[in-house]
Amino acid sequence: MHVGILTGGGDCPGLNAVIRAVTLALINECGARVTGIRRGFLGLIERDVQALDRAAVAGILAQGGTILATHNKCDPFHYFGAGGADVSARAMAFVRELGLDALVAIGGDGTMTIAHRFEALGLPVVGVPKTIDNDLQHTDRTFGFDSAVAVVAEALDRLETTARSHGRVMVLETMGRYAGWIALEGGMAGGADVILLPELPYQLEAVADVCRAREVQGLCTLVCIAEGAKAEGGELVVAQTLADSPDPLRLGGVGAVLAHQLQPLVQSEVRATLLGHVQRGGSPTPFDRVLATRFGYAAAQLVERRQWGRMVTLAGSDIASVPLEAVAGRNRPVPADHPLLAAARGLGVSLG
Ligand code: F6P
Repeated sequence: MHVGILTGGGDCPGLNAVIRAVTLALINECGARVTGIRRGFLGLIERDVQALDRAAVAGILAQGGTILATHNKCDPFHYFGAGGADVSARAMAFVRELGLDALVAIGGDGTMTIAHRFEALGLPVVGVPKTIDNDLQHTDRTFGFDSAVAVVAEALDRLETTARSHGRVMVLETMGRYAGWIALEGGMAGGADVILLPELPYQLEAVADVCRAREVQGLCTLVCIAEGAKAEGGELVVAQTLADSPDPLRLGGVGAVLAHQLQPLVQSEVRATLLGHVQRGGSPTPFDRVLATRFGYAAAQLVERRQWGRMVTLAGSDIASVPLEAVAGRNRPVPADHPLLAAARGLGVSLG
């Protein structure tokens, strides 16, 4: 059996742990030949591959990024390199030339959508969910999320000591374009006083009230805001702030905009930090290494059993799988009744 593996979309701590687990399990349990497709689906179009054997995956478990490289914009069904044309037939011709019997695609909802379309063309596919944002449907966790949360918690720990020394309001912007999982768990782990998520539009005045109440008590304030968070009626406010700024490019993102808007409403000095891709880099946490390894092994088992068109998942503490079409093109917001939201409110954390 000859199996291809690719990593699509943005990178994420734990990708190499999956590549290693899939490769070792397929070699050990069914004597498979394994080939890495480089730069996501682009490798199928540009014929960019590398052999994966025990030596190739030795020592990569704890490495961040992906040894196969990735591409976050390559969709062979709308290929940017051909003016948006469908070049999937070219990719399939290369698959046949390589003699691939199956493909393991590691990625987010975009990668799962493309994988699902290749399956319809006759390529047996298995999916592994990846995103630091933890917002894929039908899996309780994606690997990379725990590593990102650890970075946010450490950032808040560090911001707290400097905020307390100066009596300041510190605004930390995290990743999370569509869902607020990183800001919520990172914010709770780092003791944030205000946590703002895309799922719960916030009121600027409510955030200012928290800061002012804490000022009266001589306390600093930590605000943790997801990049997708919005003020009620927010698009307009953000756009106006950007337009009014003398140097909009230096603003960063929504965290900087919030800091800019908060400053005239509070006594303390307000500072903003944009964590950005620091959250995606570096070595995965032990939790993510284990989850990625379990996902990789489970994907290899689906291949061995020829259970095609499925994505492995974490359901509670068990590994399971769901059909690819159940995942493709959807994301998973933090539900309004999530217990951590209730705990946050109970502890007096403002959710805006
Ligand atoms: O992986 C998803 C994500 O982390 C989002 O939260 C963020 O908006 C995005 O990646 C940024 O990715 P890039 O800058 O690589 O396009």
